[in-house]
Amino acid sequence: MKKNELKKFYNRKLKEFKKHNELYYEKSRPAINDAEYDKLKKELLDLENKHNFLKNRYSPDKTIGYTPSKSFEKYNHRVPMLSLSNAFDLEDLKNFEKKILNYLNKNVQFNYSVEPKIDGISASLTYKNKKLEIGVSRGDGKRGEVITENLKTIKDIPLEISDTSFPDEIEIRGEIFIKKKDFLNLKDDFANPRNAASGSLRQKNPNETKKIPLNFIAYTFGYIKNNNFDYQSEFLKNLKKWGFKTNKYNKTLDSIDELAQFHTKFENTRFDLEYDVDGLVYKVNDINLQNRLGFTSNAPRWAIAHKFSAVSANTKILNIDIQVGRTGALTPVAKVEPVNVGGVVVSNATLHNEDEITRKDIRVNDIVKIERAGDVIPHVIEVDRTKRSKNSKIFIFPKKCPSCGSNTVKEYNKTTKKYDAVRRCSNDGFGCERIAIEKIKHFISKDALNIEGLGKKVVENFWELNLIKMPQDIFNLNFNIIRKLDGWGETSVKNLKASIEKAKKTTLQRFIYSIGIRHIGIENAKLLSDNFGNISSFIKIIKNKQFDKLINIDGIGETQLNSLKNFFSDQLNVRIVTELQNVMHIQNQSLVKDGVLKNKSFMFTGKLEGISRAEAKSLVEKNSGITLSNVGKNLNYLVTGSKPTKRKVDKAKTLGVNIISLEDLKKLLN
Ligand code: IVH
Repeated sequence: MKKNELKKFYNRKLKEFKKHNELYYEKSRPAINDAEYDKLKKELLDLENKHNFLKNRYSPDKTIGYTPSKSFEKYNHRVPMLSLSNAFDLEDLKNFEKKILNYLNKNVQFNYSVEPKIDGISASLTYKNKKLEIGVSRGDGKRGEVITENLKTIKDIPLEISDTSFPDEIEIRGEIFIKKKDFLNLKDDFANPRNAASGSLRQKNPNETKKIPLNFIAYTFGYIKNNNFDYQSEFLKNLKKWGFKTNKYNKTLDSIDELAQFHTKFENTRFDLEYDVDGLVYKVNDINLQNRLGFTSNAPRWAIAHKFSAVSANTKILNIDIQVGRTGALTPVAKVEPVNVGGVVVSNATLHNEDEITRKDIRVNDIVKIERAGDVIPHVIEVDRTKRSKNSKIFIFPKKCPSCGSNTVKEYNKTTKKYDAVRRCSNDGFGCERIAIEKIKHFISKDALNIEGLGKKVVENFWELNLIKMPQDIFNLNFNIIRKLDGWGETSVKNLKASIEKAKKTTLQRFIYSIGIRHIGIENAKLLSDNFGNISSFIKIIKNKQFDKLINIDGIGETQLNSLKNFFSDQLNVRIVTELQNVMHIQNQSLVKDGVLKNKSFMFTGKLEGISRAEAKSLVEKNSGITLSNVGKNLNYLVTGSKPTKRKVDKAKTLGVNIISLEDLKKLLN
């Protein structure tokens, strides 16, 4: 492959990876299973390793976790909360040890601390003078959310420690999780135990957290004042002594062979455990060696997670439902006889698309093997043909949309010269009820207009009541009717009004994203909005059908262009956009005038941690600040990274300019 083709190929994969990260971490709605996710990640890393020029700051190596929810106070971790690299087989383990030995010195001897990897969510607890002072979620690894009050409701978390050997200041980290048996009562509300734990922890009201029986197991530390522990195993013993729960299966082992043996044994008994475990964590036991080994960009060199394989069970397909998505995609979902798959009761399994059904010849009443990995929607692995009855019939995928009755189509992709695996409703506008509802749900979703109090269920409800049939109806709701509905009171009506009012004011990027044009995700909406600058130019292009101009935008290709043309060939869509423009205040892209840095000027010197100079500048500008290239009287802040230019710092000092760090700048942005 040529260099630019390779880059394109890589970028496509990276985009896919980003999308799944978002689905998993932000939306708690993963679309692929862990194994598929890991495979995608590995493909990207392999490409980068082979072709150095592909490495960039969005590499899977450098991104972890989800962005904290906006509603909690943020906290910068004193020591980043990193993730772990994964090992899947003996070879990966051997490689792990080989790298350690290369890094240190071949003669060094060490053993491993072995700990079950509970599939929950991590939390950090800072104790000062023996009292729990602050509890924080992991967030993106660098910055988490302050969830102290919620954490305090968990009985396994001691609020005060009496043991005299407890350090004066220590940050203890561990896993918050929910037991499988407790999850059974919650399974209608959450996809799996991990989501239940995470959903519960991020509740605004700690009393809500209290309702869900959460547990905590401690396993490591972040910051410790005067750390004098020599071994991880010794630290674990101390945790127990201080009153924390630790895992009773923790142990130390000496060699890779022993690790592999234990893994096999443990994997066979994992379902007898009270909680979900997705692997074992191996850590170099010697803390001095850990310190010498240090970290790569987002994982320690001294630890690895040895994953278990996915879990499966056999069950019967009762029916095959066809769901219609926002873009008209028809997704088949198997309704199965409820079955326990490694502690989680499963009654739905995705069949992905029409081609998948044909390829595997999946039929109603078939006995199938379904697989669940981590917390993604289970899927059908294979059909047990021996159990199929003689009069079983091939499943005929509907050729008409189950919602509106229109013809369905499989699109032909000119580049790959293949028909799409997905069948779609040809009426991909507001003419199809399911699509229309899904479009409205998208319009109000978090990355779009983010209208709090108007969730998916409310949209369905308002649709039924004819209150909302088009996006613009949201801005013209009849609150006299809503006030009288079940579950609605004065306060909720007032809140809804306020959040709708707030949502009227939005950026051009969000607006373009929210109208839900196929192939125009957040990133492409940004490219477009940067190009148009304001809503009027956007509407002008639409009305004059000048889409071909847009091909010059770097990043916008044929697919996006055709999608835009197609979308606006429907006059109804043109009408929606113009009507929305009339009721909303869509801000010009580059002129968000009243940001928090308004009337403040900034200059950067030195190397900034984890952010390029260009991005730092644009961060300032996005918040209405200005950036200068000289230290002078009109400079308000000099932001210094590592190795700042001494002359600039000195001059700033004489002029009385504020000298701040990148962290300080981020605080200003809060
Ligand atoms: S150590 C830098 N120990 O796994 C070391 N993590 O992929 C990272 N986890 O976010 C943490 N059990 O949520 C560690 N015994 C254990 C663990 C464990 C579960 C989770 C934790 C972390 C993730 C890393």
